[in-house]
Amino acid sequence: MSGAITHDLEGTVGLLGLLADPTRLRLLSLLDGAELSVAELTRITELPQSRVSTHLGRLRSASLLAEHRAGNCTRLTLDRKRLPATEAKLWSLVRAQTDDRVLAADRERREALLLDRREHEAGWPDLVAGQMEHRYSPGRTWEATARGLVGLLRLGDVLDVGSGDGVLTTLLAPRARSVTCLDRSPAVIAAAAERLAKLPNVHLCEGDMHDLPFPDATFDQVLHFHALTYATDPHRALHEAHRVLRPGGDLVLVTLHEHRHTEIARSYSQVVDGFSIDELQRLVEEAGLGVSCCDITSRERRKPYFEVVTVFAHRPADTEVPSRPRRPTTPTKKKAKVS
Ligand SMILES: C[S@@+](CC[C@H](N)C(=O)[O-])C[C@H]1O[C@@H](n2cnc3c(N)ncnc32)[C@H](O)[C@@H]1O
Repeated sequence: MSGAITHDLEGTVGLLGLLADPTRLRLLSLLDGAELSVAELTRITELPQSRVSTHLGRLRSASLLAEHRAGNCTRLTLDRKRLPATEAKLWSLVRAQTDDRVLAADRERREALLLDRREHEAGWPDLVAGQMEHRYSPGRTWEATARGLVGLLRLGDVLDVGSGDGVLTTLLAPRARSVTCLDRSPAVIAAAAERLAKLPNVHLCEGDMHDLPFPDATFDQVLHFHALTYATDPHRALHEAHRVLRPGGDLVLVTLHEHRHTEIARSYSQVVDGFSIDELQRLVEEAGLGVSCCDITSRERRKPYFEVVTVFAHRPADTEVPSRPRRPTTPTKKKAKVS
């Protein structure tokens, strides 16, 4: 039988005859909606190539298959357009009604092969275009990227408020005139001293972000990275950041966006459940700084999907030195009962 299958008894019987064989049924199922070479069909079905070729020959003779040249190989596909309506319906019925383990495994292997092929043909960059930040490639971590970007910086005297044990300072100190790490915790400052011992332009200071122990206008840049959620009085902490900035200096603040995961936040000793964009912008502006950016800049990819806000703010060159706001009286802590 050659040429397109005709819509008659002979055609229907011909198709039924072709379908009455498990290998041909497998091959047709695989070629329905995909273009595959003989070698690929052999790989997927794990049948001897000679057997695959013989059955493909029968399907080809019945003009059920279309051929397409791709580089060095010929790919085949089921040409549904050539099937008259009755045969097309018959084939659809057979496909829909055949729920078989072998066919399901074939389909899985076919999808894996097609994915491999796409990756091989397109190459990684084309494959991940538009979503590169979510896709792994060897060595391309955010840390490596940050370490590279640091090369663009030319910093003056930097204050790192709530510095932690000096991780950021190891990055920034080589690009700054000086870096001062301020943290409330003596243990953290001791760890920072050890980590930063070899950096000559680093100063360490145990102190409170609400009462910075520095004269007005001491720093060119103030960093507030993940420290504001520890502030019992964020307004005062930001006012202090402004006070110690030189006119023309910059504040960069990174903090959690508002959330409802109080228990998690408390387990990290945080006292504020993040800040809304409006609240943060208002707080920074009320402290006397001009805000050029206040946005959610990242969202964690694991639950509960914490979001992070980044603020870029600037102390105008011609502002007066602000006076310290009055510290609200803090309630005295109850003494823990000793039993
Ligand atoms: C989450 S860590 C952030 C460390 C660092 N900035 C970073 O991003 O890697 C917060 C730090 O703020 C410090 N901290 C908490 N309350 C503070 C306060 N009132 N004044 C100064 N530092 C404070 C903590 O001791 C801790 O080291």
